Amino acid sequence: MDIAYFILNKCLIYLSDLTLLSIVVFLNSNVAILRLCEKSLKVREIISAEHIGIFAADPNSIAKAEGIGSRLSLPVINVRDAKPLILEVSNTHVSLVYTAPKSPGATLVDFVGGKMGYRSKNSGFKDQDIIKACGIKKGMRPTILDATAGLGRDGFILASTGCKVTLVERNPIIALLLEDGIKRASEVTQTADIAANITFHNCNSVKFINAIISMDMPEVIYLDPMYPHRTKSSLVKKEMRALRDVVGDDFDSDDLLTAALQKASKRVVVKRPKGAEYLADKKPSMSFDGKSTRFDVYFVG
Ligand SMILES: C[S@@+](CC[C@H](N)C(=O)[O-])C[C@H]1O[C@@H](n2cnc3c(N)ncnc32)[C@H](O)[C@@H]1O
Repeated sequence: MDIAYFILNKCLIYLSDLTLLSIVVFLNSNVAILRLCEKSLKVREIISAEHIGIFAADPNSIAKAEGIGSRLSLPVINVRDAKPLILEVSNTHVSLVYTAPKSPGATLVDFVGGKMGYRSKNSGFKDQDIIKACGIKKGMRPTILDATAGLGRDGFILASTGCKVTLVERNPIIALLLEDGIKRASEVTQTADIAANITFHNCNSVKFINAIISMDMPEVIYLDPMYPHRTKSSLVKKEMRALRDVVGDDFDSDDLLTAALQKASKRVVVKRPKGAEYLADKKPSMSFDGKSTRFDVYFVG
């Protein structure tokens, strides 16, 4: 398989914006693993953070690119394809881009246009299993903690129902893309009210959840950790590939469920691929089975 593995520098740390804790969070055992499915790279190799850069799309965006470079401890580059993977920064967007020919297109969080934007405009979310699994119905708008925010698609669906949603994402690159998308959504009339329902934190959810005190317990904690896929056929969607390449596998999902079960006041919802084993081998109270996805619901309290 033509897969190259990238390892970001061991010092890729970030200060949590969780002022309550003010902790320094290390990413996946101090190492962010970037896995690239890259046809032009023939040899499986392990390379360092020198292989990812921040690139300003135009001269007006250089200061913004430098700010992001210093936040992520990554270099700002002048030549676009000087690195196989770049965060391309413009005045309006930040996107993750593979620079080699025939790479998948740019990945960015877009709640305004694209698929999410279209669906939010057309309120197509209400019948989805995720809504039912989270207990959202007429007159019921629970507070939700989405502890595995990723690119924010599920969190945005939940927020679009009117629920107050706290998103937590630990990977600093994914967090940056997500913050960028939320900011743009907040600036556009058709999505501003949805964005106003969202609060975001860039930190580890196990620590975040464990720090929740009883009066602040969310009614629902939603979990969608990376499921360890290995085949190319499972990497169909461009966004999913980019997410998987940057994040790798989530090895602490069982800890996340254990913490969530103690701090949700009503239920914990876990998204799994259809047919996958239960998280932490723990049988849920009930499940919603879809075509390719299952939502396991654990009632608590
Ligand atoms: C499959 S993705 C989630 C996709 C998301 N539901 C969406 O709709 O875009 C899993 C994400 O959870 C994040 N994650 C996993 N464990 C985490 C933890 N303990 N703390 C914070 N983020 C975590 C990963 O970094 C990854 O971005």
